[in-house]
Amino acid sequence: MPGPFDGKRGLVLGVANRRSIAWAIAKRLADGGAQLAFTYQGDRIEKNVRELAESVSSPLVTECDVRSDQDLDRVFGEVSDTFGGRLDLLVHSVAYAAAEDLEGRFTDTPRDRFWLALDVSAYSLVAATKRAEPLMVAAGGGSIVTMTYLGGERAVPHYNVMGVAKAALDSSVKYLAWDLGEKNIRVNAISAGPVRTLAARSIAGFPTMEAIVEERAPLRRPIDADDVGAAAAYLLSDDARNVTATTLHVDSGYHAMGM
Ligand SMILES: NC(=O)c1ccc[n+]([C@@H]2O[C@H](COP(=O)([O-])OP(=O)(O)OC[C@H]3O[C@@H](n4cnc5c(N)ncnc54)[C@H](O)[C@@H]3O)[C@@H](O)[C@H]2O)c1
Repeated sequence: MPGPFDGKRGLVLGVANRRSIAWAIAKRLADGGAQLAFTYQGDRIEKNVRELAESVSSPLVTECDVRSDQDLDRVFGEVSDTFGGRLDLLVHSVAYAAAEDLEGRFTDTPRDRFWLALDVSAYSLVAATKRAEPLMVAAGGGSIVTMTYLGGERAVPHYNVMGVAKAALDSSVKYLAWDLGEKNIRVNAISAGPVRTLAARSIAGFPTMEAIVEERAPLRRPIDADDVGAAAAYLLSDDARNVTATTLHVDSGYHAMGM
């Protein structure tokens, strides 16, 4: 039987290791027949990412710091060369805030680290989407998914500047979806419940977040990265052809609760 992503070409930003949400999404896409290019940030994780990428026969693994326009230009040039000028799928699973800003008071966030969090975690979606646009137009359309969190909609203790960055990301999804909808390019977000990853470890209150979800979410159980992979695969597939500008919560229903 043909896979849902047979013949599709995708770019995945944000794999650090096998626990990364981006990797759970990539596995689903590759299992469904997609050809995937990957980026990694920094020498420390290059080996990890190359090994994972090799396991799904990736034709391209390349470095990208999303703060750099030069890196982004080069990466999308390489993607274009690799995939014959076409791209169908873009996975944006990248975020960063300084660890000290995920501990104390949001009020104390200094200007430079505020902009750093917004640059890496929100503007990078805009910058990547702009460069994906011509390749997706050449492919007849495309689908983009980014990763967000409830801390952008509500105040979640310790999430701080990352919550402000997620609010900017959530809004960017809607404006990008409007701009690109007429070109048959969809842009959606997944708001995941707590998943133990490298990025999650830098959030001071993370174990409390996990415990509260298990106690108070309607389903009273934690989620894992593969739950997010399955939801992303849906949003990236043609089954979601009329779904754009939306946020799908994969959090055992926790977002609906007031207490
Ligand atoms: N883990 C959770 O509980 C959770 C919940 C909701 C949303 N998210 C979001 O999911 C996404 C993926 O995070 P994760 O939990 O899989 O952790 P992760 O650490 O595996 O992934 C984060 C990725 O961001 C990349 N990154 C950071 N700064 C970068 C830069 N300047 N340039 C390029 N890449 C950069 C890292 O290299 C890493 O691959 C993030 O947007 C995160 O906010 C995570």
